Amino acid sequence: MLMLNKTTRCFFKPSKRKIYEALRSLNFHPRTQFLHKLVLGIETSCDDTAAAVVDESGNVLGEAIHSQTEVHLKSGGIIPPVAQQLHRENIQRIVQEALSASKISPSELSAIATTIKPGLALSLGVGLSFSVQLVSQLKKPFIPIHHMEAHALTIRLTNKVEFPFLVLLISGGHCLLALVQGVADFLLLGKSLDIAPGDMLDKVARRLSLVKHPDCSTMSGGKAIEYLAKQGNRLHFDIKPPMQRAKNCDFSFSGLQHIIDRIITQKEKEEGIEKGQLLSSAADIAAAVQHTAACHIAKRTHRAILFCKQKDLLPQNNAVLVVSGGVASNFYIRKALEIVTNATGCTLLCPPPRLCTDNGIMIAWNGIERLRAGLGILHDVEGIRYEPKCPLGVDISEEVGEAAIKVPPLKMKI
Ligand code: KG4
Ligand code: ZN
Repeated sequence: MLMLNKTTRCFFKPSKRKIYEALRSLNFHPRTQFLHKLVLGIETSCDDTAAAVVDESGNVLGEAIHSQTEVHLKSGGIIPPVAQQLHRENIQRIVQEALSASKISPSELSAIATTIKPGLALSLGVGLSFSVQLVSQLKKPFIPIHHMEAHALTIRLTNKVEFPFLVLLISGGHCLLALVQGVADFLLLGKSLDIAPGDMLDKVARRLSLVKHPDCSTMSGGKAIEYLAKQGNRLHFDIKPPMQRAKNCDFSFSGLQHIIDRIITQKEKEEGIEKGQLLSSAADIAAAVQHTAACHIAKRTHRAILFCKQKDLLPQNNAVLVVSGGVASNFYIRKALEIVTNATGCTLLCPPPRLCTDNGIMIAWNGIERLRAGLGILHDVEGIRYEPKCPLGVDISEEVGEAAIKVPPLKMKI
């Protein structure tokens, strides 16, 4: 650091003591305002009320989360007004818990970052109106966050990953493949044409009444399917992965859901049981649906890697594939993707499972990334709105389809 000598008007290299004296005279708090950025992140886009304080080195100073999973499992799916009410009841406490755990004073925050898109309108609204009040009260900058951008960038908190990298985001509400070229610079290669894989797994788990299974009663649908699949034999059913002929990177899961639905109805007849009772073949069905979904996801991702390499969008060697979102916590699906990355000479990176599902840390970290890049930092929140639907990046999926890349077959021995 150089300082200006006011009398001689030339720069000199001062001692550490002089630097601190100067900072104090400018009323700088060296930790917060000069050396360390601190962001409070708030997430309410779906069914988790979450908050965290993260610093610019990626240290999580405090975090808190309230999950609504058990409530929604009982009602057989997310009822938006119920989710909204639960967010309202918990947001103040969760933010307070995250701040208290961080042991910083709110005045030390550099900014507040909150998910404002995409998600359930009623849920997003709670987080946004709480945050708008908080930023006005604390007089802090506000950073609106795209939920999927946050999932994509989480890996840069846990690992040293440079741009560009390929990201596969698979969750309850989303399914997409994108090239991440910068903090807010995405090329969308493909997405689900109907439902997301987590939604499909949740529906199958519900149809199988897995909440009645003694081991799975508190697990999300996807987690219950993964758990049960370990005890099942997928080979009892022969199900073809969806979209075999479409040479693009789009996904589809609703056809698979209907196939499984028909299989369950057939099995109920064979086993002579009523809808809503546990099937003895539930584990085999779970194994088959998990395997088919894993193969479908792996094939689309394989094509995305080949496309990016063909167009020189990713390095030819050691390109990185990041997988995140709730479904990325599934180890069977991770293994299927590992087969693809091994075959293409790429590195597979996934955040730890607790950072794959929704959390406040990823929102706070996205805030840090945007703060460092100087992108989307608002000093006035007048007129800010949430957006239930919002695409991620520039959509080049048509170009991907036109390239019609043939994917060499891989043995999916998982
Ligand atoms: O990212 P997330 O927490 O929320 C959304 O943004 O959707 O993802 C939740 C989804 C749910 O559909 C849940 O069933 C699924 O992730 N999920 C899993 C697993 N754990 C959670 N799916 C498959 N295997 C898992 N272990
Ligand atoms: Zn999510």
